[in-house]
Amino acid sequence: MESHCLAVASIYTGYFTMNAVLIEKQKTKVLVDGGNPEETLRIKSLIGFVDGQTTNPSLIARNPEIQHRIASGHKLSPDEASEEYKKIVQRISPLVGDAGVSIEVFSNLDTTAEQMLTQGKDMFSWIPNAYIKYPCTREGLRAAQMSVEEGIRVNITLCFSQEQAAGVYAATQATKAPAYVSPFIGRLDDRGENGMDLIKNIQRMYEAGDGHVYVLAASIRSIDQLLACFALGVELVTVPAKILEAWAARGFPTPNRNFAYKGADTSGKTLKPIQYRSIDLREPWNTFDLTHELTRKGIEKFVADFEGTLGQSTGVR
Ligand code: E4P
Repeated sequence: MESHCLAVASIYTGYFTMNAVLIEKQKTKVLVDGGNPEETLRIKSLIGFVDGQTTNPSLIARNPEIQHRIASGHKLSPDEASEEYKKIVQRISPLVGDAGVSIEVFSNLDTTAEQMLTQGKDMFSWIPNAYIKYPCTREGLRAAQMSVEEGIRVNITLCFSQEQAAGVYAATQATKAPAYVSPFIGRLDDRGENGMDLIKNIQRMYEAGDGHVYVLAASIRSIDQLLACFALGVELVTVPAKILEAWAARGFPTPNRNFAYKGADTSGKTLKPIQYRSIDLREPWNTFDLTHELTRKGIEKFVADFEGTLGQSTGVR
């Protein structure tokens, strides 16, 4: 079912990879899903490379330095929270490869595209390799459309349906760099649907397109899901440190020709398949159904996690 990557002595010089084992490079770029530069450094030293990083408000809220400040009784104002986020991504930025660092705008269900764009422009200036994350909603895609027209790289997050991915494709046609769409596998699995099917369906739908959107598989919960992403040849996958550490501990397995993804929940029950739908990518982006319950819940959770940690409102409108 799986083969193991060649482990060879490091040929890199420098602090991060001196003792690292280099692994056979997959076509799929591997990003760290987290909010802690120390963790990114640790993973880079463990696997020899980190192609990029994704962050989000929940992950930033868990950053040890933010946690420390909160524990010592400090309440972060919205401006201070933004400054902390900036410092974190500025430390991560030089550690990663060309898949960049995704920085997510603070938004709730009422935030307008213009408000997101204002944040996106500022965040894009923080580091040279930023991707701005907008939620896969009507306002998020409107912000993304305006962003790519201004040369801002985008990553559309909280994608749970093929229609939403079609909307991402249509809204980002003016992009100069590849736009990313982040379908969340684990959160679909959590409610009994086979999230990996969504990845396959989006890839199939995008075959009719011009290749300007890359699939960034997100919400990875297991090594099996990571291997399935490699087997499908998704352009990018973002993975929590603990899964990458488990992957390393197993000797960096890669899927061989007979690899078959199980698509089962933790109790072994088969997940419900998600059917492919025929969708015309040439339709205007705002004609697609962009609503999904998990997108709404995801936005609410990001706000709750961040504000819960700060102990006060972030001031997002
Ligand atoms: C992606 O960019 C997200 O940060 C992430 O993959 C969400 O994963 P979760 O469902 O485990 O929170």
